[in-house]
Parts: sequence; C-alpha cells; structure tokens
Amino acid sequence: MESMGSLRRTHSCNDLGKENVGEEVVLMGWVLRRRDHGGVIFIDLRDRYGITQVVFNPEIGAEVHAKAHQLRSEWVLAVKGEVTLRPGDMANPKLATGDIEILVSELRILNTSETPPFPLDEDIEVSDSLRLQYRYLDLRRPEMAAKLIARHKAVQAVRTYLNDNNFLEIETPMLTRSTPEGARDYLVPSRVNAGRFYALPQSPQLFKQLLMIAGMERYYQIVKCFRDEDLRADRQPEFTQIDMELSFVDEEQIIAVTEGMISLLFKETRGLDVAPPFKRITFDQAMARFGTDRPDMRFGFEIVDLTGIAAGCGFKVFRDIADKGGIVRAINAKNCAGFSRKDLDDLTDFAVQLGAKGLAWVKMKADGEWQSPIAKFFSDEERTAIAGALDAGEGDLLFFGADKPAVVRQVLGELRSELARRLDLLKKDEFDFVWVTDFPLVEYDEKEKRFQALHHPFTAPKEEDEGRLETDPASVYSRAYDLVLNGIEIGGGSIRIHRKDIQMKVLQALSIEEEEAKDKFGFLLRALELGAPPHGGIAFGLDRLLMIITGSSSIRDVIAFPKTQKATCPLTEAPAAVARKQLTELFLRPDWKEKD
Ligand code: AMO
Ligand code: AMP
Repeated sequence: MESMGSLRRTHSCNDLGKENVGEEVVLMGWVLRRRDHGGVIFIDLRDRYGITQVVFNPEIGAEVHAKAHQLRSEWVLAVKGEVTLRPGDMANPKLATGDIEILVSELRILNTSETPPFPLDEDIEVSDSLRLQYRYLDLRRPEMAAKLIARHKAVQAVRTYLNDNNFLEIETPMLTRSTPEGARDYLVPSRVNAGRFYALPQSPQLFKQLLMIAGMERYYQIVKCFRDEDLRADRQPEFTQIDMELSFVDEEQIIAVTEGMISLLFKETRGLDVAPPFKRITFDQAMARFGTDRPDMRFGFEIVDLTGIAAGCGFKVFRDIADKGGIVRAINAKNCAGFSRKDLDDLTDFAVQLGAKGLAWVKMKADGEWQSPIAKFFSDEERTAIAGALDAGEGDLLFFGADKPAVVRQVLGELRSELARRLDLLKKDEFDFVWVTDFPLVEYDEKEKRFQALHHPFTAPKEEDEGRLETDPASVYSRAYDLVLNGIEIGGGSIRIHRKDIQMKVLQALSIEEEEAKDKFGFLLRALELGAPPHGGIAFGLDRLLMIITGSSSIRDVIAFPKTQKATCPLTEAPAAVARKQLTELFLRPDWKEKD
C-alpha cells in the first residue's frame, strides 16, 4: 500500500469529457469493475460523483500494467494519466464520461479490500440485514448515494425556504419529559437523580409551543424524534421531522407557507413542479369515499353507500345488517369483470383477513344483467338503482361490504389499494397531494373506555364547537390538518389551544384529571397563563417524503444508518448489553432476567 505522495486529485470521476482530451489528470476512487482484455486492463473507477474508465496498457507502461494485475474490487486507487478519446465504437453513451478513458502512467494503491460480502456493481438480491451490517458498502452503490444526495438537497431547500420566510432554527432538548404523541417513550435513566428518567422526545411539540409563548413567532427545526412503536415500511423508531410553529396565523396561512416549502423541495430534489394549491378533503368525506383518513386519490374505485337500497332488499345478510345500524357499501372496479374465480377467492380471503364476513361481488353483463352469487336476491329496480349509484356498466366488477361502519370502511378502503396494486395503478412518478381537514377532536377508545385525542391534547377545537366540549365531546371538530401524498401521511399539525380555560376543558374531555395534567405538563399550563399568543404549526416526516420522492419502498432506504423491523442496528449491534457497573450507577437492577 502506498500514500498519495505528491498526487493531488484534479477531477472527480464524473468530470471529464471530449473537451479534456490530451490533459494530464489525477483521479482517486474505488475499483468498481476490472476487465482484462487480452493484455490491456480496464478498470471502472468510482467516486461519489461518477465513474471513469481507466486503462493500463502494457505497451505504454509495463511496470504500471504489472501492478494493475493485482487490483481487485473496492481497492482504493490514485491514478495519473492522460485523457484520451475512446475508439469510436467503444464510447458508452450511458456514462457521463463515456467518450473518454484515462491512459494510466502512474498508479498508487492507497488501500486494498477483502472481497466485499456482496457485489456492489450488480443488481442482485442482498438480504436487508447484510446490507445494514455493511451499510458503508451498501451506501457506495450509486443508487443509494443518490438517495442521500436527494436528502441533502431536500434539507437545504427547506432551510433556504424557511430562512427566507423569517423562520428561526432553534434546537430543543433531547433529554426531556414525555410528550404525548401516542407512542411509547424511549427512557433514559438519570445517574445524578436516582430513580428518575428522561424521555427522548416523540416530537418537540411542547417546546415549540413554549417558543411561541417566548415570542419567537416563527420556528423550525429539522429534528430527530423517537417513538417506541411497532415498525413498518414507513415507520422507524428514530425518524426526522421538519418541525414548524407560527404565531398569529390561521390554518390557511400555515397551509400556504408549507405548500410553498413542499413545492420548492420537489423542485430542488426532482426538478418537478407540483403546483399548489393542493386538493382538500374533510375527514368525514375521506372516510366515506375512501374508507381512510389517508386517501390515495391516484385512482378511483370510490366507496358508495347503498345502505338505503340494501335495507329493503331480499338478501337477508344485507337487510339484517342495515336494520341493526350497520352499513352496506360498495366499490366499482371498472372494467374488471374479467377477474377469474381465483382472483375473486383471493380478494375474498383478503377481505376476510381484515375482518369482513364475506365479499359479495357482481360482474356486470350486457343490459344490466348481473353475474353474481347474490343476483337472485335483488329486484330489477334494485339492480338498476345500485348500478346507477356506482356508475356501473357492462364489464365492471362490483364489490360489497356489509358490517359495522368501521369494518366496512377498513375492508373497502384496503380493497381499493389492493386492486390498485394488482392492476398496477400506483405510478411512482405521480404525486397526488391532498390536505385532510376537519378532523374530530377526539375518538372513543373502546379498550380504555375513554376519549383519546385524535391528534394530540393541545389541538384547538373549532370555535363554534367549544360549547359542546363538556356535553358532547364526540361531536366536536378540531382545527387539525394532515397532508397526505399517495396515500401516505407525510405531515400533520393544527392550530393549538392558547387559552388555559379551553385547554383545561379539553383535558377534562380526555379524562385527564387536573392533578395528572399538572404533573405531566404543568409547565405548559402555567405558560398559557402568561400571555400565550394564538399559534399553530405542523410537522412533516422527512424520511417519508424522501421515500416517495426517491421512489423507495421503505424509509430505511433514505436513512444513512436505519434500524431493522426489530429496532436493532446490525452494524453497531445496538441495542447492546452494558456493564454491570453502568447499571448500578443508574440505579437499575443488574440481575434483571427475561422472566421479570
Ligand atoms: P405526527 O405525530 O403526526 O405529529 O408526526 C408528524 C409526521 O411525522 C411522520 N412520522 C414518522 N415518520 C417515520 N417514522 C415514524 N415512526 C413516524 N411517526 C410520525 C409522519 C407524520 O405525519 N407534534 C406533531 C406535529 C404538530 O402538531 O405540529 C406530530 O409529531 O409523516
Ligand atoms: P352467502 O349467502 O353467505 O353464501 O353469501 C353470498 C355472498 O355474499 C358471498 O359472496 C359472500 O362472500 C357475501 N357476503 C356474506 N356476508 C357478507 C357481508 N357481511 N358483506 C359482504 N359480503 C358478504
């Protein structure tokens, strides 16, 4: 192995073209591929910026050529040589530097490498845990590096935009108290305060409100948040928010400012114009038409209510459900009457796994005829009415759900997405934004037998509903809004409560007693008594945004060092056992066993 000596890099591996022919250059990087073509050795040299072909010709430098024989994948090189034009038929139009190659006169091997545990230049299936264990190799792959570069650009765009709009970037503590965002906390024991724990923030929610009370007026932070919850493709235990809060504003102003930010972000990372204002839909509409508060509106199959028609029909299952306060709804899978028996059985299984009791279907034939196991139960008029409601004609396939409202919504909502997947309707480069507004303030938690905040307990109720906080909290709407992109919640926020009396009423509606409230966030309640301005804000999931922007299937792909589904890091092997002494210092019992 050698040092760089006096060699200084003159260009990156993405810089050189025809115009540089004849120049003497120095490149540094890794061996991506090595080809031995009857004496002449070709190396694809890779750095962060790109790839350049470097050539070792025995007729030009016998010694350098002999040295090049040893080179293997991922060795680290410095090469000096002359830029030459590739022979006409050897040019590679797919490569930015594809017109030229470097005729090497000096080679320094800066480091060797063992054979990597997986090849970096091929699109082969590598297990996720191996990729994470050797993340530094995984990130050498250009498509992975491109995702980190996109992330960098996104963060720069956000900072530029928010700085230009008078926002102050302010940090908030990581060692803090629990913030109620609905997940479990990560706790950190305190050594100097026996038996006490910090919680890592689930979000900076309370601090950003305190910053408004402190008169900062516009705050942002690109900040890590920690939530100990079950992980999925779009959930990590630590993730990053673009977190914002503004004073003296209403929903419309917050929506306008953030639409500007999101469109700049898309412009800077993908060169795309996403053209705000974005669509809007109320929570109730979203639930009725799409069965979810995260509607993917890139495709149709909207849910249509048929309870009225079903109430009088001859199909006992539907009639009984309608009579008992349940609902009957359906979707029209346009032009899908060609689905096979197996397709229908699979979809029925899919529905049943989600809790449905069945999945009645109808294939629409000519002249309004039905091919369906339930055809015989419906009169001509009922069939016409159903077809009319669903805008159904020959060649369409209808699916019905009948049950309690929550079950029908979930089943038909997920069935929509499943159909879109099967029909390949989910285009990765289509970006469908929609604001979901007018959420209920609370939802009833059957297990806990009490109301829970749909967003968090600091979200303001609609002014016109404040009077019902004590008498009928379930009927109160809130001033919350979520931004949904392609069926994924990428951001959420609200206008906050800035008056102590309203905050106390909301806490009461959530069955949080005064003592408990004082204990958990007495500091916020006190601050509300000391001149809190009207304020509101929002937080975006940066990882989720980037997952969608880069067309990735998991947020892991856009995080440099993410965790596995089990919240572990195969690279560092965190979480790890610690020395007994560390535990006792923290007043934790070192004799803890699984059975405890
Ligand atoms: P919320 O809990 O909705 O709101 O979080 C805001 C956004 O953060 C993203 N997100 C996540 N991303 C990856 N992994 C996770 N585990 C995860 N959890 C959430 C989502 C979500 O929309 N304090 C409030 C915001 C506010 O009211 O201003 C909050 O944290 O994209
Ligand atoms: P059955 O009369 O039970 O054979 O059901 C006839 C059809 O209705 C079958 O295709 C079932 O899958 C469907 N079905 C039964 N119960 C329900 C329900 N609650 N919701 C939707 N479809 C149902």
